[in-house]
Amino acid sequence: MVKYALTAENVCKSVELDKNKLDIIKNVNFFVKEGEYVAIMGPSGSGKSTLLGILSCIDKQTSGKVMINNVDVGNLNKDELTEFRNNNIGIVFQSFNLISVLNAGENIEVPLFFSKKQIDWESKVDELINIVGLRDKKKSFPRQLSGGEQQRIAIARAFAGEPKILFTDEPTGALDSENTEMVLKIFDKFKKKYNMTIITITHDTKVAERADRIVYIKDGELYERNFENDK
Ligand SMILES: Nc1ncnc2c1ncn2[C@@H]1O[C@H](COP(=O)(O)OP(=O)(O)O)[C@@H](O)[C@H]1O
Ligand SMILES: [Mg+2]
Repeated sequence: MVKYALTAENVCKSVELDKNKLDIIKNVNFFVKEGEYVAIMGPSGSGKSTLLGILSCIDKQTSGKVMINNVDVGNLNKDELTEFRNNNIGIVFQSFNLISVLNAGENIEVPLFFSKKQIDWESKVDELINIVGLRDKKKSFPRQLSGGEQQRIAIARAFAGEPKILFTDEPTGALDSENTEMVLKIFDKFKKKYNMTIITITHDTKVAERADRIVYIKDGELYERNFENDK
């Protein structure tokens, strides 16, 4: 039986704007298998970030159902949702959002403050900082790191709580091609090593091509493209 990391059924999001209803996400159906790496592409303003916000439980849909690891996240109260997110979800944004007064190693530790899992902090930080190739920068502060290095630390941080699913919104949008390649290699490693499910928004076809599957969003509607049909 296929195991799904995430299912979204008939998901809609609308907001009130000047007394008009604006439909941002329109009846999205989206199924992602465990260990699958999916890229979401679409023009600016098409609803990518809004959809990712809903799927990663930052934002709530207006209607429809989102299940992550077989949990209907719409049924969780605020505290349950926070705990669920801490245990199951990692997020990486285009802007690295590291905490400036903490060094690289301490930034990676942040999710562990909120985790109830039995994770050995020191070995977890060492494991992750090795995977992102920045062991010698463990004591460096964000301002002492390049953009690419900051993003690699942000990625290590996203993995610290051992999430089952990683969401990323233009993770390479602020990086040059060399750093983009480094970040993509890190995602490949996590997929291989931990069977991580990854859902990534990108404008960059080079990034999208690394995924198992690409879906497209336009005016709030999601389109699947079945590459099997192209062969
Ligand atoms: N809270 C909101 N209120 C009004 N409009 C919004 C809100 N959130 C998003 N939008 C609009 O919805 C559309 C989709 O936004 P977004 O998801 O950020 O697109 P993308 O990430 O694809 O560029 C945009 O036109 C944006 O202006
Ligand atoms: Mg966006």
